[in-house]
Amino acid sequence: MDPSLIIPRRIEKWAEEKPEIAALMASEYGEALLKAYEELDLSLLYQSVTHGIGHIERTMFFGAMIAMNEKLSAVDTRDILLCCSYHDIGRTDDRYDLEHGRKSAEKIREGETLRSLFAEPEAAMSAIHAHSVPDGEANDAPIIYNVKKLDKSALYTACLKDADNIDRVRIYDLDESFLRFPKTRKMVPLAWWLLDAYLKKHTVLCFGDSNTYGYNPRTEGRYPSYFRYPNILQQFLGDEYKVIAEGLNGRTTAFPKTGLMWKSGLYAVEPILASHYPIDTLVVMLGTNDCAAELELEASDIANGMEKLLVTARDLLLEKQGFEPRIILICPPHLEKSIMTGPFAEEMNRKSIETSLALPEMYGKLAKKLSCDYLDLDGKIRFSEIDSEHLRPFDSYRLAGMLAEMIIE
Ligand SMILES: [Fe+2]
Ligand SMILES: [Fe+2]
Repeated sequence: MDPSLIIPRRIEKWAEEKPEIAALMASEYGEALLKAYEELDLSLLYQSVTHGIGHIERTMFFGAMIAMNEKLSAVDTRDILLCCSYHDIGRTDDRYDLEHGRKSAEKIREGETLRSLFAEPEAAMSAIHAHSVPDGEANDAPIIYNVKKLDKSALYTACLKDADNIDRVRIYDLDESFLRFPKTRKMVPLAWWLLDAYLKKHTVLCFGDSNTYGYNPRTEGRYPSYFRYPNILQQFLGDEYKVIAEGLNGRTTAFPKTGLMWKSGLYAVEPILASHYPIDTLVVMLGTNDCAAELELEASDIANGMEKLLVTARDLLLEKQGFEPRIILICPPHLEKSIMTGPFAEEMNRKSIETSLALPEMYGKLAKKLSCDYLDLDGKIRFSEIDSEHLRPFDSYRLAGMLAEMIIE
């Protein structure tokens, strides 16, 4: 099964929520649908958001539902699933186009291998030709393809048109009066549900400081996007996830430096989360800047600041989205002695190093108290030797890898 197909990977899970889907999957029609997904040649499909793979996967799903509702034979079901698979291969753009059905049918007529998949290729080509023109305007389609069994082409046309039409929910433009079978009309709420389930992405928000922003210690600028850990995480997680980066240079957990209230994580977290929810997983990596000499904080103070931040974030998201996010608390690597001779020598002192060394234990206790997941980077990753405070690209990859493993599990 091609990994870019979404329905075959999620349909068993959806069956637990939707009895209609459970009924399909318990029947031979569900089996035929999975087989059709397995045999689908993605290289033939037109690539686009509105008429590409997503539309094809859903049209095939509805084709199987209609075949089950109408109790069609295995042979007809297979042909209809093939019609659903390849009905839009003649498209060249996403515009309103009455001709693309004819072009799709032509491709099938010319492609011997493709044509040989159908039990009734003439009826299938006639249905595919007719799907893109209004009823009554493709009466000559069975003649063009030399259809002998007119009842077959009529059946295939009705099934394909209903399966294709009901997915017009994707452009919020479904006219139910165009649906032919009464049972297809009853499926409209399922079509909306399926669209939402299909498009749903697991959202991960990474809230942090310069190491989430992607500060480059060599240039004192920003790493290119492919070296920033949230973007690497996005690559590792793939299309079904959406990773949002919210990193700010100098951000602390909850303690503003003089005149810099906006650098306090606690100060910024609510507007940021309210701009991005719903959020399934919240990743928070902060604490390094809290070790600054001017703040004079103990590790326990920083853990208290982190607690306030996490509780505020969790409460806000629960109120806004109706469920708590999964929270992954990350303890950054500790500061090393070299920081006192590097570019941040004025900001950090010996006490800063001691505080950073005590932080993993404090954060560990906090994660337990709040029932968060915990990733302690101390001992796993060291800051760059250039400034002793920022990640090297190699370590951003390692961090993203560890997170991806925790998130996918
Ligand atoms: Fe079409
Ligand atoms: Fe279509």
